[in-house]
Amino acid sequence: QGRTITIRGKIPGNLQDAWKLVKISASYPGESELYSEPLRPQYHFTSRRGWLNDPNGLVYQDGTWHLFYQHNPYNHGWDNMHWGHATSTDLFHWHEHADALFPDAEGYMYSGSATIAPKSTTSLPLQGSEGIVLAYTANGNLSYEADRLPVQSVAFSNDHGKTFTKYAGNPVVAHDRAENRDPKIAWYAPDHHWIMNLYYDANDYGIYTSPDLVKWTKTDEYQIPGEAECPDMFELPVDGNPKDTRWIVWGANGKYMIGKFDGKKFKAESGPHRHYFGSAYAGQSYDNAPDGRRVHIGWMRDGGPGLDGAPFNLQMTLPMDFSLRTDAAGELRLWAEPSKEVEKLRSETKSWDNLNWSAGEADPFADFKGGQFEIDAVIDADSPAAAIGLNLFGQNTVVWKKADQSFTGAEGPQPPVDGKIRLQVFVDTVSLEVFVNGTYTSRYIRQNPEAPAIRVVAEGGAAHFDSLKIHRIQSVWK
Ligand code: FRU
Repeated sequence: QGRTITIRGKIPGNLQDAWKLVKISASYPGESELYSEPLRPQYHFTSRRGWLNDPNGLVYQDGTWHLFYQHNPYNHGWDNMHWGHATSTDLFHWHEHADALFPDAEGYMYSGSATIAPKSTTSLPLQGSEGIVLAYTANGNLSYEADRLPVQSVAFSNDHGKTFTKYAGNPVVAHDRAENRDPKIAWYAPDHHWIMNLYYDANDYGIYTSPDLVKWTKTDEYQIPGEAECPDMFELPVDGNPKDTRWIVWGANGKYMIGKFDGKKFKAESGPHRHYFGSAYAGQSYDNAPDGRRVHIGWMRDGGPGLDGAPFNLQMTLPMDFSLRTDAAGELRLWAEPSKEVEKLRSETKSWDNLNWSAGEADPFADFKGGQFEIDAVIDADSPAAAIGLNLFGQNTVVWKKADQSFTGAEGPQPPVDGKIRLQVFVDTVSLEVFVNGTYTSRYIRQNPEAPAIRVVAEGGAAHFDSLKIHRIQSVWK
């Protein structure tokens, strides 16, 4: 069904033409239903067509959020890695553009990052005062032949990301170790130089520095136990104090180390800690978001709608803001909150204050029909009930158990903060995401229209909610 083009083996010279054919063809199957297909997420980013994986090159310029991502425009499986490209002014209403990087003689375009480079900080041939620079892995051949091992390359844009030119002197970092991929570049202001974090192999990562984004020197190696792929590295104030900061190094599974960084070397103080749970993977953050925000977007793998017939596959997570906080045990931990822009999408809010609810009473959500919604609850941990939470579509439970202070449906340790549990649940067409006191879990679901959309759960006594709210979330595509 439909047009699928899979290109394997030797990479043809110009896949760009093939993509244009798919994209501008007046008659690609289902085009008139674009964004209202049955399994289409309504407030999460998906590509129009094809497969997506890792977010790449998250960069903010002049009011526009850029999201690049691993893209196979031709069908719903992983292959033919391109860099897709979308932009938004609010992190939710995305406009998908033509792909930014295409496989060519350099190989497949694997994951990487982006930055805004002022002309004075780079030897790349920028025309204006600054340009968007992408750093990516060129993976010459998936069979890892000796002469086509993965290397790191750069490309630049002189037109705000409309088109990219690959640097003529690529690669900028030669092959070093087996895997070698996913360069994360960022400006290190105190020393006036660029840094690159790079995945090597096993649990190993490296740090490089550069005066110009072209000449790179290795300055450090570090490990994140249990991690692989897709490094991110960033600085956060401790409990909001800009005079006391720590650096985080992060890998694809959402495990991270906390420590100090002097512009060349990372020194771990604690970790690995785990932030992500469920199907989120390979997240990245914006280095230059306004107001000092650390906005992060991940990819949700495993269980996407492509295998159920959708002409697109897999989605990004909700954008979330990170901070670094001292937890109840006095330890520093990452804390995630849904990015505030989601509030603009809320409608038809219903709320209850000081709700005491016991099994058998009328359910507050009795009349609610599924779709796209957010539930925001503050649960009193001293409620008589032994288990408190929600049941969604008759099968997806998100329930806190008092005995071991753990959640079903939201992994990780979940002790109350000041006696309360803040639970935020986001449901979109095929996804369920749960924020509990700063942690994040996600997974794909299928909504069962025959089952009640939402039921409150209270076992072994009454549940007390300081507050309980439901918001419908409006579609960003309509
Ligand atoms: C992570 C990853 C990256 C790689 C990319 C290829 O999901 O394996 O390490 O660059 O996907 O698509």
